[in-house]
Amino acid sequence: MKPLVNKIVCIGAGYVGGPTMAVIADRCPDIDVTVLDLNEARIAAWNSEELPIYEPGLAAVVSRARGRNLRFVGQTEGAAHVAAADAVFISVNTPTKTDGEGAGKASDLRYVESCARFIAAHATGHTIVIEKSTMPVRAADRIKSILASAGPGVTFDILSNPEFLAEGTAIRDLEAPDRVLIGGERPEPIQALAEIYRRWVPAERVLSTGLWSAELSKLVANAFLAQRVSSINSISALCEVTGADVEEVASVVGTDSRIGPKFLRASVGFGGSCFQKDLLSLIYISESYGLTEVAAYWQQVVDLNQWQKHRFADQIAAPIATAEGSLRDRRIAILGFAFKKDTNDVRETPAIDVCRRLLARGATLAVHDYKVTPDSIASEIGTQGVEVATSPEAALAGADGVAVLTEWSAYAKLDWARLAGILKAGAIIHDGRNIVDATAIRRSGLGLRSIGKGERHVR
Ligand code: UDX
Ligand code: ADP
Repeated sequence: MKPLVNKIVCIGAGYVGGPTMAVIADRCPDIDVTVLDLNEARIAAWNSEELPIYEPGLAAVVSRARGRNLRFVGQTEGAAHVAAADAVFISVNTPTKTDGEGAGKASDLRYVESCARFIAAHATGHTIVIEKSTMPVRAADRIKSILASAGPGVTFDILSNPEFLAEGTAIRDLEAPDRVLIGGERPEPIQALAEIYRRWVPAERVLSTGLWSAELSKLVANAFLAQRVSSINSISALCEVTGADVEEVASVVGTDSRIGPKFLRASVGFGGSCFQKDLLSLIYISESYGLTEVAAYWQQVVDLNQWQKHRFADQIAAPIATAEGSLRDRRIAILGFAFKKDTNDVRETPAIDVCRRLLARGATLAVHDYKVTPDSIASEIGTQGVEVATSPEAALAGADGVAVLTEWSAYAKLDWARLAGILKAGAIIHDGRNIVDATAIRRSGLGLRSIGKGERHVR
């Protein structure tokens, strides 16, 4: 039987749209997949050997499908593809609003609305419109009302198919997801989309719910994950003052099958484009329905994360600041700028807050990352007092203090016996990810402060 969906368009060639469409095209060679974006430079990069995002395994998937049934096009060329599409995914950014009603909390749906207008203007016949970007609950109403402006005979179904991939493991998450969620109002379009995923995802993992439950489930999944990180980070502070070891505590707590071991790694704080944005969106929605206690509960997850980042920066400053608290003439090596390993994404990375706090006190920073470009670093923290180092060694040379902010595997293998000589005497390594070789550091005469490990517990 011919599949109901033969031609797909995805609007938005970002961290979600690009990898997701590449995997669909790879797994379904008979389905024609077009990814369009208004950012022409991004499209050019998707069509080159230098893909615009770094994601392990992505290049191989793209190279298998691109030129066969996967193409990346600009907005102008995209219109005809939308006209011919059976299904159009909306996978654009939904950042936190910076002005107007809900500023600082609500998700900004202007890009989504502009996609809906584009679809309404170009679609023909019947089209399934699929929310892939994380949306506030009932966003589909806004999309529907815009789509209603389409010409006569043009009809739509709306589905919510939120993406659960995590950056750095996107390809693995897409190829073997815990679940695929499809929310909708009628069984036919849900089945049509489910049929695509069932080509490689076991049927029992393709879940369907109502539209509003699907929209809300994505926000809630991210809120629960972020809450786990804030929970363990709150305990990290308690471990530091009591002499307990947060890794031991997490491992004991995680053996309870009702709790589970994942997402209990204490850190400098969570980052990424989703957690804070989705928490704020959940808080805003709760407030707008008058649920102030619910909003306050989730707000604390955000506040704890902010506190953890500041606490970490202040711990770096404390041993090297002047009596007045200044960090002038102090050089601090920043190892890692991405919000987690295996990505070049710096959106909401904890490094931004840590670096800004140190810069504000006059420090000079030498920042190293394996994948983040100097331009990305400059766009977040400027260039004043910031030097971008091309190797960990270059960052560490002459440093008064060291902050490990991203858990790149290579930082776990640094040879501290050799590096001790290039650091200033008495320099302390502040490990925001608990990955460095603690024994080697101590043996080399360097100081070490690990997240959630009290001084009394130092081994
Ligand atoms: C997250 C969700 O995991 C994913 O399902 C959703 O689709 C998008 O948002 P992502 O932000 O890409 O994915 O990465 P994730 O692995 O969830 O990490 C988020 C942040 O939490 C990172 O800064 C990470 O370092 C931090 N983290 C994660 C911890 O500090 N400790 C942990 O135990 C886990
Ligand atoms: P995500 O992490 O959700 O994928 P990104 O910011 O990486 O978010 O990607 C979103 C992409 O959507 C960007 O490349 C942006 O240029 C694109 N985009 C935003 N609005 C539109 C639009 N109206 N039409 C086409 N592309 C859009």
